[in-house]
Amino acid sequence: MKIGGKHYRSVWVESDGRTVFYIDQTLLPFEFKVRQLANVGAAAQAIRTMQVRGAPLIGAVAAFGVALAMANDASDATLEHARDLLLATRPTAINLAWALDRMGNALLNQPRTERVAAAYREAQAICDEDVTTCQAIGRHGLQLIRAAAGSKRPVNILTHCNAGWIACVDWGTALAPIYMAHDAGIPVHVWVDETRPRNQGARLTAWELGAHGVPHTVIVDSAGGHLMQRGLVDLCIVGTDRTTAGGDVCNKIGTYLKALAAHDNNVPFYVALPHTSIDWTLESGASIPIEERAANEVTSITGRDAAGKIVSVAVTPDGSAAANFAFDVTPARLIGALITERGVTPASAEGLLSLYPEQAPEPTKERGK
Ligand code: MRU
Repeated sequence: MKIGGKHYRSVWVESDGRTVFYIDQTLLPFEFKVRQLANVGAAAQAIRTMQVRGAPLIGAVAAFGVALAMANDASDATLEHARDLLLATRPTAINLAWALDRMGNALLNQPRTERVAAAYREAQAICDEDVTTCQAIGRHGLQLIRAAAGSKRPVNILTHCNAGWIACVDWGTALAPIYMAHDAGIPVHVWVDETRPRNQGARLTAWELGAHGVPHTVIVDSAGGHLMQRGLVDLCIVGTDRTTAGGDVCNKIGTYLKALAAHDNNVPFYVALPHTSIDWTLESGASIPIEERAANEVTSITGRDAAGKIVSVAVTPDGSAAANFAFDVTPARLIGALITERGVTPASAEGLLSLYPEQAPEPTKERGK
């Protein structure tokens, strides 16, 4: 997408084919800062501190982390160490393990002399595929928005957290259909959940939508139910960090409460996801590891002061305990449909397998045959 008239991806390689850059999301929307990814340790640090975040993007950055590790030493031991280091950064988004498995599969059978070039090639392919996948999600989701756009008023869409281009390599998952609807001339308006504690909605989604000219309004996290009761939300679209084979959706904390409110008010609740966010090994969302982050993300808030300085201020009394569960699970029964790169499908094992038949378990062979 474009910032100041220039097209950016959230992570990219320079024309030398080796130098990797990314946009530091911890400074947005106040400062647009591009940083170089120097080595695998820096990649792990950028993911851990959420300079880069969003399920598809952390997979892409981890892939470049492996490439940087190979550029330093293309041994099996370094490959294994890079994988362990990167995998330990954040536990919930399955895209991280997916990207690291793919890098491992691409590199293990390569001779050491070929590994650096192969690693960069694979990381670049992961990025390019993420872009085309998100575009396809956008095209499928656009049909749902088009169908909702009957009357003259704009289609009011509620989203949670940030599942836009900055969370992916380009376009986004939940926001791709919205960008495409806007570009197609369908009037849309987005209710943006602020998404405490890190405010990815208020900081990142609002910034992205504003840069693309999409009308939007930031709301506090608890406002969605009220808006739905008043008929002010036509549909919800969110992203996911891990969706199980049975259709349960793990996403940023608070997503479940929005799905409950949507269900109670007959508001369609859609989840947009690439195949890289599906965990085919899990049926139920109850077994997804939920990241718990530092308490100070809850007890303080970061913003820009009147002098233009980015500051953090306390919002709780000294000594109050705080818990910081970063994700929750929305059961499949509350989800209207999944929007994938292969089409729109019910959130169920049958729905997912109808789009991804290659994931169907092998029939067990009869004895003696
Ligand atoms: O903790 P974050 O900011 O990495 O969480 C991101 C989300 O919850 C997104 O909704 C999800 O990764 C989908 S991104 C296309």
